[in-house]
Amino acid sequence: MTARVEAAVAAPATAKATVAPPCAVVVFGATGDLTRRKLMPALYNLAQSGHLPDRFAVVGCARRPWSREEFSAQMEAGVREFSRSGLDAERWQWCRERCDYVSGDFNDPGTYARLAMCLRDLDAQHGTGGNRLFYLAVPPAEFEAILRGLRDAGLIVPPESLQFSRVIVEKPFGRSLETARALNALVGEVLDESQTFRIDHYLGKETVQNIMVFRFANAIFEPLWNRKYVDHVQITAAETVGVGTRGRFYEETGVLRDIVQNHLLEVLTLCAMEPPNSGHADDVRGEKLKVLRALRQPWADTVVDDLVLGQYDGYRSEPDVAADSHTPTYAGLRVHVDNWRWQGVPFYLRAGKRMAKRVTEVNVFLQEIPLQLFGDPDVCAPPDANVLTLRIQPEEGIQLRFASKIPGHDLQVGPVVMDMTYRETFGGEPPEAYERLLLDAMRGDATLFSRRDAVETSWQWIQPILDWTEDSGLAPHPYAAGSWGPEASARMLAHDRRKWRDT
Ligand code: BG6
Repeated sequence: MTARVEAAVAAPATAKATVAPPCAVVVFGATGDLTRRKLMPALYNLAQSGHLPDRFAVVGCARRPWSREEFSAQMEAGVREFSRSGLDAERWQWCRERCDYVSGDFNDPGTYARLAMCLRDLDAQHGTGGNRLFYLAVPPAEFEAILRGLRDAGLIVPPESLQFSRVIVEKPFGRSLETARALNALVGEVLDESQTFRIDHYLGKETVQNIMVFRFANAIFEPLWNRKYVDHVQITAAETVGVGTRGRFYEETGVLRDIVQNHLLEVLTLCAMEPPNSGHADDVRGEKLKVLRALRQPWADTVVDDLVLGQYDGYRSEPDVAADSHTPTYAGLRVHVDNWRWQGVPFYLRAGKRMAKRVTEVNVFLQEIPLQLFGDPDVCAPPDANVLTLRIQPEEGIQLRFASKIPGHDLQVGPVVMDMTYRETFGGEPPEAYERLLLDAMRGDATLFSRRDAVETSWQWIQPILDWTEDSGLAPHPYAAGSWGPEASARMLAHDRRKWRDT
């Protein structure tokens, strides 16, 4: 089956301002990979699609003593390599005229004085109007110096001002409940919550945003979306890549902090939340928080039943990885949402590196039919349960598996699928997550960013799992690179008479 866009939805009647307001975006950590691979291509594509105003500038800030020209040459190379729409010379010229660079140590007040001067010049030259969006694309250890430096240099104006100062904070937002709280306290000292944009790039993905639309804009599925009809839910984030050159970071992080605490819990909350009162940031985030609060707290003696950790063969030979590392690169979890809607419906989560296939998806398994009416069960197997698949990436789309009579003179029943792909339906690939998130931060819309209470609640939930993992000293189960993870993970589901969906 293919889906097609009805003309009526092509032009939304109540669209938000699609062009960002005048502003300067300042990227701390501008010489790093994230800036070159993601942020600059995203800004370029926003310019290309007409979402950036003429009154716009971007300033890189980092230790490396680059000139303005070196910075823009590096960014041009990044855009050329990573932009989804290639590089158009005229459009790049537009961006280049709006690029600047300030080099300096983040602990040196002189850096912020130079930055303030540069921003004033850009206000005069490009009319950026004193509006600033600061992006902390740096390791968390640098946050404190930067936030205090910005405040002391008068670069953060109060939230009620006519101009805006906003800060995007990159993950990892802490590495434990305690450090996340400390970080939030520090951020809270300098910024109002309305000026704080904690980024989880998963929320910028079109398909992740579509979870809410799919659930709450369609009358057909929501009545089934509860414990009466849903048997269980599986959420998978599998990557084929290993840790590559990020061994040092990954040794400190592991899959639980890298993917589960943030990306997977964000997807889970969108799947499990109640309909919000409105689409406004705090209504949506309030409902998501309620799901996090309903997660059954793992106990030291239950963690072991609901968790399987794995490590791919060869991980210990990756650069900067300890030869006896216990860092997990795979996690499979059984999670319970203890509320009225989901009581008794397990959510199985799994994430891993060096898996068989790159795929992120949600599979909602409906309950089996109560009675097999068709075919002789000895000859004809009972039909597989209906499964609704929200394919987040790649091959973004939605699929529904249902039973059908197989044509022929016998009453044979077999599974068939209806499949909607973004590529066929909307033409082309969805925009990159960072485009939407940067645009929203410029527009001041925090719906797709994590709020302080949610970040702390998710750490609160995962902390006993992290503690158990570290205290038990157990080595994760080894698994072959290119497989679906350790056998023990399949056993966890088999124990419940279920199987991971063969993705
Ligand atoms: C990042 C993790 O947050 O997400 C990486 O740090 C991971 O380890 C990446 O590879 C996956 O993102 P995506 O968008 O490629 O699925």
